[in-house]
Amino acid sequence: MTDDDRLTTSFPLAAYAFESSPLSAARTAEFRDYLPYNQGNRTLIAEEDGTTLAAVSAIPMRQNLRGVVLPMAGVAGVATHPLARRQGHVRTLLHQLLDEMRDEGHPLSALYPFRPSFYARFGYAGLPKPRRVTFAPANLAALLRVDLPGEVGWERVAAGYPAWRAFTERNLQERHGFAIFPDHRAVGMRDRDEYWLLTARVGGEVTGAVTYRIDEHGGTLHGNELLATDPLARALLLQFFARHVDQIERITVQVPPDELPELWLTDLDVHVEARTAVPGSSAPMARLLSLDALSGLPAGPGRVRIELTGDRWLAGTHLLDGTTGVLELVDDTTGRAPTATLTAAGLSALAYGVLDPAELPLRGLGEVSVDAATELRGLFPRRVPYLFADF
Ligand SMILES: CC(C)(COP(=O)(O)OP(=O)(O)OC[C@H]1O[C@@H](n2cnc3c(N)ncnc32)[C@H](O)[C@@H]1OP(=O)(O)O)[C@@H](O)C(=O)NCCC(=O)NCCS
Repeated sequence: MTDDDRLTTSFPLAAYAFESSPLSAARTAEFRDYLPYNQGNRTLIAEEDGTTLAAVSAIPMRQNLRGVVLPMAGVAGVATHPLARRQGHVRTLLHQLLDEMRDEGHPLSALYPFRPSFYARFGYAGLPKPRRVTFAPANLAALLRVDLPGEVGWERVAAGYPAWRAFTERNLQERHGFAIFPDHRAVGMRDRDEYWLLTARVGGEVTGAVTYRIDEHGGTLHGNELLATDPLARALLLQFFARHVDQIERITVQVPPDELPELWLTDLDVHVEARTAVPGSSAPMARLLSLDALSGLPAGPGRVRIELTGDRWLAGTHLLDGTTGVLELVDDTTGRAPTATLTAAGLSALAYGVLDPAELPLRGLGEVSVDAATELRGLFPRRVPYLFADF
Protein backbone atom coordinates (compact mmCIF):
# COMPACT_ATOMS: atom_id res chain seq x y z
CA MET A 1 0.00 0.00 0.00
CA THR A 2 1.13 3.51 -0.63
CA ASP A 3 -0.11 6.87 0.56
CA ASP A 4 -3.82 7.41 -0.07
CA ASP A 5 -4.54 3.68 -0.36
CA ARG A 6 -4.00 3.40 3.37
CA LEU A 7 -7.06 5.58 4.04
CA THR A 8 -9.43 2.86 2.86
CA THR A 9 -7.41 -0.30 3.62
CA SER A 10 -5.02 -0.52 6.57
CA PHE A 11 -6.21 2.54 8.55
CA PRO A 12 -9.83 1.39 9.05
CA LEU A 13 -8.68 -2.10 10.09
CA ALA A 14 -6.17 -0.69 12.56
CA ALA A 15 -8.80 1.70 13.89
CA TYR A 16 -11.21 -1.18 14.48
CA ALA A 17 -8.47 -3.15 16.27
CA PHE A 18 -7.03 -0.37 18.41
CA GLU A 19 -9.58 2.44 18.88
CA SER A 20 -13.01 2.95 20.34
CA SER A 21 -15.51 2.21 17.57
CA PRO A 22 -17.65 2.60 15.49
CA LEU A 23 -15.71 5.68 14.45
CA SER A 24 -17.36 9.05 14.06
CA ALA A 25 -17.18 10.73 10.67
CA ALA A 26 -14.97 13.38 12.27
CA ARG A 27 -12.48 10.75 13.43
CA THR A 28 -12.39 9.11 9.99
CA ALA A 29 -11.72 12.52 8.46
CA GLU A 30 -8.61 12.80 10.64
CA PHE A 31 -7.01 9.76 8.95
CA ARG A 32 -5.68 11.95 6.18
CA ASP A 33 -3.60 13.88 8.72
CA TYR A 34 -1.66 10.70 9.55
CA LEU A 35 -0.58 9.95 6.00
CA PRO A 36 2.68 11.92 6.10
CA TYR A 37 3.82 10.01 9.20
CA ASN A 38 3.25 6.70 7.42
CA GLN A 39 4.76 7.60 4.07
CA GLY A 40 8.09 5.83 4.54
CA ASN A 41 6.55 2.75 6.17
CA ARG A 42 6.08 -0.60 4.45
CA THR A 43 2.42 -1.64 4.60
CA LEU A 44 1.18 -4.95 3.24
CA ILE A 45 -2.45 -6.00 3.07
CA ALA A 46 -4.35 -9.17 2.23
CA GLU A 47 -7.36 -8.45 0.07
CA GLU A 48 -10.31 -10.42 -1.32
CA ASP A 49 -12.89 -9.00 -3.74
CA GLY A 50 -11.87 -5.48 -2.79
CA THR A 51 -12.20 -6.08 0.95
CA THR A 52 -9.10 -5.69 3.11
CA LEU A 53 -8.79 -8.81 5.25
CA ALA A 54 -5.57 -8.06 7.12
CA ALA A 55 -2.78 -5.50 7.31
CA VAL A 56 0.74 -5.27 8.72
CA SER A 57 3.27 -2.44 8.63
CA ALA A 58 6.97 -1.96 9.29
CA ILE A 59 8.56 1.33 10.26
CA PRO A 60 12.19 1.65 9.09
CA MET A 61 13.90 2.49 12.38
CA ARG A 62 17.40 2.28 13.88
CA GLN A 63 18.40 0.54 17.11
CA ASN A 64 21.51 0.24 19.24
CA LEU A 65 22.56 -3.36 19.84
CA ARG A 66 25.43 -3.52 22.36
CA GLY A 67 26.85 -0.23 21.13
CA VAL A 68 26.36 -0.75 17.38
CA VAL A 69 23.53 1.11 15.62
CA LEU A 70 21.67 -1.05 13.10
CA PRO A 71 18.59 -0.73 10.89
CA MET A 72 15.56 -2.19 12.68
CA ALA A 73 12.08 -3.00 11.38
CA GLY A 74 9.47 -1.76 13.87
CA VAL A 75 6.35 -3.86 13.32
CA ALA A 76 3.06 -2.03 13.86
CA GLY A 77 -0.57 -1.92 12.78
CA VAL A 78 -1.05 -5.70 12.79
CA ALA A 79 -4.78 -6.33 12.42
CA THR A 80 -7.17 -8.75 10.78
CA HIS A 81 -10.79 -8.15 9.76
CA PRO A 82 -13.06 -9.58 12.48
CA LEU A 83 -14.60 -12.03 9.98
CA ALA A 84 -11.22 -13.19 8.66
CA ARG A 85 -9.29 -13.98 11.84
CA ARG A 86 -7.54 -17.30 12.47
CA GLN A 87 -7.20 -18.01 8.76
CA GLY A 88 -3.45 -17.45 8.56
CA HIS A 89 -3.54 -13.97 7.00
CA VAL A 90 -1.28 -12.30 9.54
CA ARG A 91 1.15 -15.21 9.46
CA THR A 92 1.44 -14.88 5.66
CA LEU A 93 1.76 -11.10 5.75
CA LEU A 94 4.28 -11.05 8.59
CA HIS A 95 6.47 -13.58 6.81
CA GLN A 96 6.52 -11.48 3.66
CA LEU A 97 6.99 -8.22 5.57
CA LEU A 98 9.98 -9.50 7.51
CA ASP A 99 11.42 -11.17 4.37
CA GLU A 100 11.34 -7.83 2.60
CA MET A 101 12.67 -5.76 5.51
CA ARG A 102 15.49 -8.26 6.09
CA ASP A 103 16.42 -8.35 2.40
CA GLU A 104 16.51 -4.56 2.39
CA GLY A 105 19.06 -4.50 5.19
CA HIS A 106 17.19 -4.57 8.51
CA PRO A 107 18.93 -7.21 10.66
CA LEU A 108 16.77 -6.36 13.71
CA SER A 109 13.04 -6.12 14.38
CA ALA A 110 11.02 -4.98 17.40
CA LEU A 111 7.36 -4.58 18.33
CA TYR A 112 4.87 -4.19 21.16
CA PRO A 113 2.83 -7.42 21.25
CA PHE A 114 -0.87 -7.69 22.08
CA ARG A 115 0.06 -11.16 23.37
CA PRO A 116 3.74 -12.08 23.72
CA SER A 117 3.19 -15.78 22.99
CA PHE A 118 1.80 -14.88 19.54
CA TYR A 119 5.07 -13.19 18.57
CA ALA A 120 7.28 -15.68 20.44
CA ARG A 121 6.24 -18.09 17.69
CA PHE A 122 7.71 -15.64 15.19
CA GLY A 123 11.05 -15.69 17.04
CA TYR A 124 10.67 -12.54 19.15
CA ALA A 125 12.07 -12.40 22.70
CA GLY A 126 10.72 -10.23 25.52
CA LEU A 127 12.50 -7.01 26.49
CA PRO A 128 12.03 -5.22 29.80
CA LYS A 129 9.31 -2.64 30.21
CA PRO A 130 10.31 0.88 31.23
CA ARG A 131 9.30 1.90 34.75
CA ARG A 132 6.80 4.62 35.63
CA VAL A 133 7.83 6.64 38.66
CA THR A 134 5.43 8.73 40.75
CA PHE A 135 6.33 11.13 43.56
CA ALA A 136 5.26 14.45 45.12
CA PRO A 137 7.21 17.59 44.24
CA ALA A 138 7.60 18.37 47.98
CA ASN A 139 9.84 15.30 48.17
CA LEU A 140 12.35 17.04 45.93
CA ALA A 141 12.73 20.03 48.31
CA ALA A 142 16.35 19.18 49.12
CA LEU A 143 17.26 19.89 45.48
CA LEU A 144 16.02 23.50 45.73
CA ARG A 145 18.93 24.45 47.95
CA VAL A 146 21.60 22.91 45.72
CA ASP A 147 23.61 25.01 43.30
CA LEU A 148 24.03 22.78 40.27
CA PRO A 149 26.69 23.55 37.62
CA GLY A 150 24.33 23.62 34.65
CA GLU A 151 21.07 25.11 33.45
CA VAL A 152 17.70 24.07 32.07
CA GLY A 153 15.89 25.07 28.90
CA TRP A 154 12.09 25.17 28.85
CA GLU A 155 9.94 25.59 25.73
CA ARG A 156 7.12 23.97 23.81
CA VAL A 157 8.24 20.83 22.03
CA ALA A 158 7.53 22.33 18.58
CA ALA A 159 10.09 25.05 19.29
CA GLY A 160 12.61 22.70 20.88
CA TYR A 161 12.12 19.82 18.47
CA PRO A 162 15.56 20.01 16.78
CA ALA A 163 17.27 19.82 20.21
CA TRP A 164 14.99 16.95 21.28
CA ARG A 165 15.60 15.01 18.08
CA ALA A 166 19.37 15.55 18.31
CA PHE A 167 19.38 14.35 21.91
CA THR A 168 17.45 11.17 21.08
CA GLU A 169 19.97 10.61 18.29
CA ARG A 170 22.77 10.89 20.85
CA ASN A 171 21.03 8.33 23.07
CA LEU A 172 20.70 6.05 20.04
CA GLN A 173 24.48 6.13 19.65
CA GLU A 174 25.19 5.55 23.34
CA ARG A 175 22.52 3.33 24.87
CA HIS A 176 21.94 -0.41 24.38
CA GLY A 177 18.49 -1.23 23.02
CA PHE A 178 17.61 2.39 22.26
CA ALA A 179 15.58 2.82 19.06
CA ILE A 180 14.31 5.90 17.28
CA PHE A 181 11.85 6.60 14.49
CA PRO A 182 12.81 7.80 11.04
CA ASP A 183 12.33 11.54 10.51
CA HIS A 184 8.96 11.19 8.76
CA ARG A 185 7.45 9.63 11.89
CA ALA A 186 9.42 11.47 14.58
CA VAL A 187 8.15 14.89 13.46
CA GLY A 188 4.64 13.95 14.65
CA MET A 189 5.80 14.99 18.13
CA ARG A 190 6.65 18.46 16.78
CA ASP A 191 3.51 18.82 14.70
CA ARG A 192 1.10 17.78 17.48
CA ASP A 193 2.92 20.13 19.88
CA GLU A 194 1.17 18.64 22.92
CA TYR A 195 4.09 18.80 25.37
CA TRP A 196 6.55 21.03 27.10
CA LEU A 197 10.19 20.19 26.48
CA LEU A 198 12.55 20.51 29.44
CA THR A 199 16.26 20.12 28.73
CA ALA A 200 19.29 19.97 31.01
CA ARG A 201 22.31 21.74 29.56
CA VAL A 202 25.91 21.79 30.66
CA GLY A 203 28.31 24.05 28.80
CA GLY A 204 25.60 24.58 26.16
CA GLU A 205 25.31 20.85 25.47
CA VAL A 206 22.02 19.00 26.09
CA THR A 207 22.67 16.21 28.63
CA GLY A 208 19.10 15.45 29.71
CA ALA A 209 15.55 15.94 28.47
CA VAL A 210 11.95 15.12 29.22
CA THR A 211 8.67 16.10 27.57
CA TYR A 212 5.62 16.58 29.76
CA ARG A 213 2.21 18.15 30.20
CA ILE A 214 0.27 19.35 33.25
CA ASP A 215 -3.39 18.39 33.51
CA GLU A 216 -4.71 21.01 35.97
CA HIS A 217 -3.91 23.21 38.97
CA GLY A 218 -3.37 20.90 41.92
CA GLY A 219 -3.19 17.96 39.49
CA THR A 220 -0.48 15.87 37.89
CA LEU A 221 2.59 16.63 35.84
CA HIS A 222 2.61 13.79 33.31
CA GLY A 223 6.14 13.19 32.06
CA ASN A 224 7.08 10.99 29.14
CA GLU A 225 10.55 9.39 29.01
CA LEU A 226 13.09 11.05 31.30
CA LEU A 227 16.44 10.82 29.52
CA ALA A 228 19.64 11.75 31.33
CA THR A 229 23.20 10.97 30.31
CA ASP A 230 24.52 11.46 33.85
CA PRO A 231 23.37 12.20 37.45
CA LEU A 232 23.86 15.96 37.07
CA ALA A 233 21.47 16.05 34.11
CA ARG A 234 18.87 14.14 36.09
CA ALA A 235 19.30 16.44 39.11
CA LEU A 236 18.82 19.52 36.90
CA LEU A 237 15.54 18.12 35.55
CA LEU A 238 14.28 17.13 39.00
CA GLN A 239 15.27 20.52 40.44
CA PHE A 240 13.03 22.18 37.85
CA PHE A 241 10.18 19.84 38.84
CA ALA A 242 10.79 20.73 42.52
CA ARG A 243 9.79 24.31 41.76
CA HIS A 244 6.25 23.09 41.04
CA VAL A 245 5.58 22.30 44.70
CA ASP A 246 2.76 24.87 44.99
CA GLN A 247 1.27 24.09 41.60
CA ILE A 248 0.78 20.35 41.29
CA GLU A 249 0.18 17.41 43.59
CA ARG A 250 2.22 14.74 41.90
CA ILE A 251 4.74 14.07 39.18
CA THR A 252 4.80 10.92 37.12
CA VAL A 253 7.51 10.14 34.63
CA GLN A 254 8.80 7.15 32.67
CA VAL A 255 12.36 5.93 33.27
CA PRO A 256 14.55 3.22 31.73
CA PRO A 257 14.08 -0.30 33.17
CA ASP A 258 17.44 -0.22 34.99
CA GLU A 259 16.81 3.11 36.75
CA LEU A 260 16.57 3.05 40.59
CA PRO A 261 14.56 6.16 41.58
CA GLU A 262 14.54 5.21 45.28
CA LEU A 263 18.23 6.13 45.26
CA TRP A 264 17.79 9.57 43.65
CA LEU A 265 17.43 11.45 46.94
CA THR A 266 17.25 10.78 50.67
CA ASP A 267 13.65 10.95 52.00
CA LEU A 268 12.15 10.48 48.54
CA ASP A 269 8.79 8.70 48.83
CA VAL A 270 8.48 7.13 45.43
CA HIS A 271 6.30 4.59 43.68
CA VAL A 272 7.95 2.66 40.85
CA GLU A 273 5.80 0.48 38.62
CA ALA A 274 5.97 -1.72 35.54
CA ARG A 275 2.78 -3.60 34.77
CA THR A 276 2.20 -5.97 31.89
CA ALA A 277 -1.18 -7.28 30.83
CA VAL A 278 -2.74 -8.80 27.70
CA PRO A 279 -3.76 -7.09 25.46
CA GLY A 280 -3.45 -3.44 26.45
CA SER A 281 -0.24 -3.08 28.41
CA SER A 282 2.68 -4.88 26.89
CA ALA A 283 6.43 -5.02 27.32
CA PRO A 284 8.28 -4.79 24.00
CA MET A 285 9.84 -7.70 22.11
CA ALA A 286 12.69 -7.90 19.62
CA ARG A 287 14.57 -10.36 17.45
CA LEU A 288 17.50 -10.73 15.13
CA LEU A 289 16.38 -11.10 11.52
CA SER A 290 19.89 -11.73 10.26
CA LEU A 291 23.12 -12.95 11.80
CA ASP A 292 24.79 -9.92 10.19
CA ALA A 293 23.62 -8.12 13.35
CA LEU A 294 26.10 -10.10 15.42
CA SER A 295 29.26 -9.81 13.32
CA GLY A 296 31.57 -7.21 14.78
CA LEU A 297 29.64 -6.63 18.03
CA PRO A 298 31.77 -6.06 21.10
CA ALA A 299 31.85 -9.42 22.89
CA GLY A 300 33.30 -10.95 26.00
CA PRO A 301 35.60 -13.97 25.81
CA GLY A 302 33.93 -17.14 24.58
CA ARG A 303 33.90 -19.59 21.70
CA VAL A 304 30.99 -21.86 20.94
CA ARG A 305 29.47 -23.82 18.07
CA ILE A 306 25.70 -23.29 17.84
CA GLU A 307 22.96 -24.66 15.67
CA LEU A 308 19.93 -22.50 14.93
CA THR A 309 16.62 -24.25 14.64
CA GLY A 310 12.94 -23.77 13.85
CA ASP A 311 13.13 -20.37 12.19
CA ARG A 312 12.48 -18.90 8.76
CA TRP A 313 15.31 -16.37 8.94
CA LEU A 314 18.04 -17.75 11.22
CA ALA A 315 19.40 -21.22 10.44
CA GLY A 316 22.54 -23.30 10.11
CA THR A 317 25.50 -24.16 12.29
CA HIS A 318 27.89 -21.39 13.22
CA LEU A 319 31.00 -20.89 15.23
CA LEU A 320 30.74 -17.80 17.46
CA ASP A 321 34.14 -16.53 18.51
CA GLY A 322 34.70 -13.57 20.83
CA THR A 323 38.31 -14.21 21.77
CA THR A 324 39.48 -11.01 20.04
CA GLY A 325 36.91 -8.88 21.92
CA VAL A 326 34.85 -8.56 18.74
CA LEU A 327 32.29 -11.18 17.80
CA GLU A 328 33.22 -13.20 14.74
CA LEU A 329 30.82 -15.59 13.04
CA VAL A 330 31.99 -18.45 10.91
CA ASP A 331 29.60 -20.72 9.01
CA ASP A 332 30.58 -24.09 10.30
CA THR A 333 31.19 -26.73 7.67
CA THR A 334 33.46 -28.98 9.73
CA GLY A 335 30.57 -31.24 10.60
CA ARG A 336 31.49 -31.09 14.30
CA ALA A 337 28.57 -31.31 16.67
CA PRO A 338 27.26 -28.00 18.05
CA THR A 339 27.19 -27.74 21.86
CA ALA A 340 24.08 -25.56 21.84
CA THR A 341 20.90 -25.61 19.77
CA LEU A 342 19.09 -22.29 19.88
CA THR A 343 15.78 -20.98 18.58
CA ALA A 344 15.69 -17.52 17.02
CA ALA A 345 14.10 -16.15 20.20
CA GLY A 346 16.81 -17.84 22.28
CA LEU A 347 19.67 -16.30 20.32
CA SER A 348 17.86 -12.94 20.24
CA ALA A 349 17.42 -13.02 24.03
CA LEU A 350 21.18 -13.57 24.42
CA ALA A 351 22.10 -10.88 21.91
CA TYR A 352 19.85 -8.32 23.62
CA GLY A 353 21.27 -9.44 26.97
CA VAL A 354 17.93 -10.26 28.60
CA LEU A 355 18.28 -13.98 29.45
CA ASP A 356 21.05 -16.13 30.86
CA PRO A 357 21.97 -19.12 28.67
CA ALA A 358 20.88 -21.46 31.50
CA GLU A 359 17.34 -20.04 31.21
CA LEU A 360 16.93 -20.99 27.56
CA PRO A 361 16.21 -24.73 28.07
CA LEU A 362 13.74 -23.86 30.85
CA ARG A 363 11.89 -21.56 28.46
CA GLY A 364 11.84 -23.90 25.47
CA LEU A 365 14.31 -21.68 23.63
CA GLY A 366 17.11 -24.17 23.10
CA GLU A 367 19.33 -26.95 24.38
CA VAL A 368 22.47 -25.61 26.01
CA SER A 369 25.16 -27.77 27.61
CA VAL A 370 26.83 -26.50 30.79
CA ASP A 371 30.04 -25.77 28.86
CA ALA A 372 28.17 -23.97 26.10
CA ALA A 373 26.32 -21.89 28.71
CA THR A 374 29.66 -20.72 30.12
CA GLU A 375 30.91 -19.72 26.65
CA LEU A 376 27.63 -17.99 25.71
CA ARG A 377 27.59 -16.15 29.05
CA GLY A 378 31.09 -14.89 28.25
CA LEU A 379 30.13 -13.84 24.72
CA PHE A 380 26.84 -12.15 25.64
CA PRO A 381 27.06 -10.58 29.11
CA ARG A 382 23.67 -9.56 30.57
CA ARG A 383 22.59 -6.05 29.61
CA VAL A 384 19.39 -4.10 30.19
CA PRO A 385 18.08 -2.82 26.85
CA TYR A 386 15.93 0.31 26.83
CA LEU A 387 13.83 0.41 23.64
CA PHE A 388 12.51 3.96 24.22
CA ALA A 389 10.44 4.34 21.00
CA ASP A 390 6.81 3.46 21.57
CA PHE A 391 4.78 2.37 18.54
C1 LIG B 1 -4.40 -11.04 16.62
C2 LIG B 1 -4.60 -10.96 15.12
C3 LIG B 1 -3.72 -9.86 14.53
C4 LIG B 1 -4.21 -12.33 14.53
O1 LIG B 1 -4.36 -12.29 13.12
P1 LIG B 1 -4.87 -13.58 12.33
O2 LIG B 1 -4.88 -13.23 10.89
O3 LIG B 1 -6.13 -14.03 12.96
O4 LIG B 1 -3.69 -14.58 12.68
P2 LIG B 1 -3.29 -15.90 11.88
O5 LIG B 1 -4.53 -16.62 11.46
O6 LIG B 1 -2.30 -15.58 10.82
O7 LIG B 1 -2.59 -16.66 13.07
C5 LIG B 1 -1.25 -17.09 13.07
C6 LIG B 1 -1.09 -18.12 14.14
O8 LIG B 1 -1.31 -17.54 15.44
C7 LIG B 1 -2.41 -18.18 16.09
N1 LIG B 1 -3.19 -17.11 16.75
C8 LIG B 1 -4.03 -16.24 16.18
N2 LIG B 1 -4.54 -15.42 17.10
C9 LIG B 1 -3.99 -15.77 18.28
C10 LIG B 1 -4.12 -15.28 19.59
N3 LIG B 1 -4.94 -14.28 19.88
N4 LIG B 1 -3.39 -15.87 20.55
C11 LIG B 1 -2.57 -16.90 20.28
N5 LIG B 1 -2.41 -17.40 19.04
C12 LIG B 1 -3.13 -16.85 18.05
C13 LIG B 1 -3.19 -18.82 14.98
O9 LIG B 1 -3.90 -19.93 15.49
C14 LIG B 1 -2.11 -19.23 14.02
O10 LIG B 1 -1.49 -20.41 14.48
P3 LIG B 1 -0.86 -21.51 13.46
O11 LIG B 1 0.33 -20.82 12.85
O12 LIG B 1 -0.52 -22.65 14.34
O13 LIG B 1 -1.94 -21.79 12.47
C15 LIG B 1 -6.07 -10.68 14.77
O14 LIG B 1 -6.87 -11.62 15.42
C16 LIG B 1 -6.53 -9.28 15.18
O15 LIG B 1 -6.58 -8.40 14.36
N6 LIG B 1 -6.89 -9.05 16.47
C17 LIG B 1 -7.29 -7.75 16.97
C18 LIG B 1 -6.21 -6.70 16.89
C19 LIG B 1 -4.93 -7.11 17.55
O16 LIG B 1 -4.92 -7.59 18.66
N7 LIG B 1 -3.83 -6.89 16.86
C20 LIG B 1 -2.52 -7.23 17.32
C21 LIG B 1 -1.70 -6.01 17.46
S1 LIG B 1 -0.05 -6.29 17.94
